[in-house]
Amino acid sequence: MTATIETRTVAPPVTTVRFHQVGKTFGQSTKAVVALDQVDLAVGPGEFVCLVGASGCGKTTLLNLVAGLDQPTSGRIELNSSRPAVVFQEAALMPWLTAAGNVELPLRMAGVGKAARRATAAELLELVRLAGLGDKRPHELSGGMRQRVALARALASTTDHTGAGAGKPSLLLMDEPFSALDAITRDVLQGELLRIWRATGTAILFVTHDVREAVRLGQRVVLLSSRPGRVVREWNVDGLTDGAEAAAVDEVNAALRTVISSHAA
Ligand SMILES: Nc1ncnc2c1ncn2[C@@H]1O[C@H](COP(=O)(O)OP(=O)(O)O)[C@@H](O)[C@H]1O
Ligand SMILES: [Mg+2]
Repeated sequence: MTATIETRTVAPPVTTVRFHQVGKTFGQSTKAVVALDQVDLAVGPGEFVCLVGASGCGKTTLLNLVAGLDQPTSGRIELNSSRPAVVFQEAALMPWLTAAGNVELPLRMAGVGKAARRATAAELLELVRLAGLGDKRPHELSGGMRQRVALARALASTTDHTGAGAGKPSLLLMDEPFSALDAITRDVLQGELLRIWRATGTAILFVTHDVREAVRLGQRVVLLSSRPGRVVREWNVDGLTDGAEAAAVDEVNAALRTVISSHAA
């Protein structure tokens, strides 16, 4: 079984983001929580990497560091991309803006002119299969549709439209974006995400606690331990056959269980 997936320890030579011994501690002295410890991790341009780990192991913390929403306590993060964009579990759309207005927002903030904004938003809404729904407000859309809008907005925000960082690879950070959706919608959106990833060539760092989702979507799956969050192991799961994919899910799940039970003990 294990012969079907190979553990890769060598990081790709060209990176969109690279962690060098990154640590993150919240609070001080006896109340200190070591969320991340000596994390080394790299995502290459256009690469799809899934990060799995138990609840509370530091996955969101890690994404926040890449997004620049928080600073590491130790180590450093090397970023060679346009501004990373985050897609959260909840779409977090502006309720007073239409779907198109939400997608246009990061473009407006980047100083993109009205006509170009409209055109880009229309293109991105078509990419996420919401053509014709641009004038709907978030409350008029289903949960799955709202996540499609959030994805289009993230793509608008990570693609450099103003020239300063043009040509830099884009990076999408996704924090359990499908966990609040029903199983069928989740399955559809996973397929859509793969299609959009192939179409756009963006790098994706995708966080999930669902191993099946990670193995289906990612080219690599990285397992994070709990307290402190450390990279325990990673698997190359690119282009597996259905049988090999099922075996990989079992193997990663077994490793995750080991990590969780060693933490509890
Ligand atoms: N702002 C914060 N202040 C204090 N502790 C935090 C903060 N953010 C996260 N933590 C702690 O860091 C650990 C990792 O949290 P988090 O990154 O949210 O985990 P995950 O996303 O894997 O569920 C948890 O123990 C959590 O309680
Ligand atoms: Mg989280």
